[in-house]
Amino acid sequence: MQNNVRPESMARITTKELADAFIAEQVAEVRAQVGDKKVLLALSGGVDSSVVAALLIKAIGKQLVCVHVNHGLMRKDESEEVIRIFRDGLDANLIYIDATDRFLGKLKDVAEPEKKRKIIGNEFIVVFDEEARKLDDIDFLAQGTIYPDIIESDGVKAHHNVGGLPEDMKFELVEPIKLLYKDEVRVVGKALGLPSSMVDRQPFPGPGLGVRCLGAITRDRLEALREADAILREEFDICGLSKTVWQYFIAVPDMKSVGVKDGKRYEGWPAIIRAVNTEDAMTATIEEIPYNVLHKITNRITAEVEGINRVLLDLTPKPVGTIEWE
Ligand code: XMP
Repeated sequence: MQNNVRPESMARITTKELADAFIAEQVAEVRAQVGDKKVLLALSGGVDSSVVAALLIKAIGKQLVCVHVNHGLMRKDESEEVIRIFRDGLDANLIYIDATDRFLGKLKDVAEPEKKRKIIGNEFIVVFDEEARKLDDIDFLAQGTIYPDIIESDGVKAHHNVGGLPEDMKFELVEPIKLLYKDEVRVVGKALGLPSSMVDRQPFPGPGLGVRCLGAITRDRLEALREADAILREEFDICGLSKTVWQYFIAVPDMKSVGVKDGKRYEGWPAIIRAVNTEDAMTATIEEIPYNVLHKITNRITAEVEGINRVLLDLTPKPVGTIEWE
């Protein structure tokens, strides 16, 4: 197995040719490591786990068992896209678990951000563990570890990622992209044939919309957030901002204000737009959004999303504001 230090001689993977060479090398290495055994992978649909899945499907086909847990806090159509790309497109051995009710049940009335994160992280492990135990003869666990995760393993990202599996589940790890930087992961993903909608996507926190539906999550407010976020992303795609802005999303706080709709009093939540640029997520600057785009987004969200009656723009750089609202 490779060790965890990137050799100085390793060229930065910037082209399809370099990516193809990396893929060929990893396919051979994974085959040698795994033989005819089975490998389990938690496939979130994020860039890293998706690229690992595509790479392992190329290397070992149906010996890879992907488990996609929908915690109910995904963005609009995200789980559907995972199924479409991996099960329908790549013929993956994919187990899809809709655990929405379990997660939202556990999160009911919990308003404290750290508690919400813990519940989501723990429940993820419980659900994944339950599924893993139903499967026979799995010897390996694949992970989408990338080089910054190794470098920063006791830094900022450590608390971000969902914890490990229970102690008694002993798997050998398969980590084919652990020496790659994020930009290289994207190049490799494209060379593997994954669509841009998957490999060029913005970062999305593990606890998903759970950190953007502020306070105690309710289904109606979560749904409003999901719909408003989908409109924001659609409009950023249309005007091209999705190509230049690093991260953009909606947060919906647990407060209502009075408004008017169809001539009647309409109490609703505000949708808060956050759009930032950053190098490393440690600091972030605010992206200019043209006023005509802001008006269009505001008009669409207030007209199309049940429960939202105002749209606000967050102009706070990091520091002082973190990127996420929690
Ligand atoms: P903050 O809010 O701390 O966020 O300024 C910095 C970056 O980290 C992302 N983030 C997460 N990423 N799991 C992740 O993989 C998480 O739990 C998580 N929480 C925040 C956030 O979206 C931003 O890009």
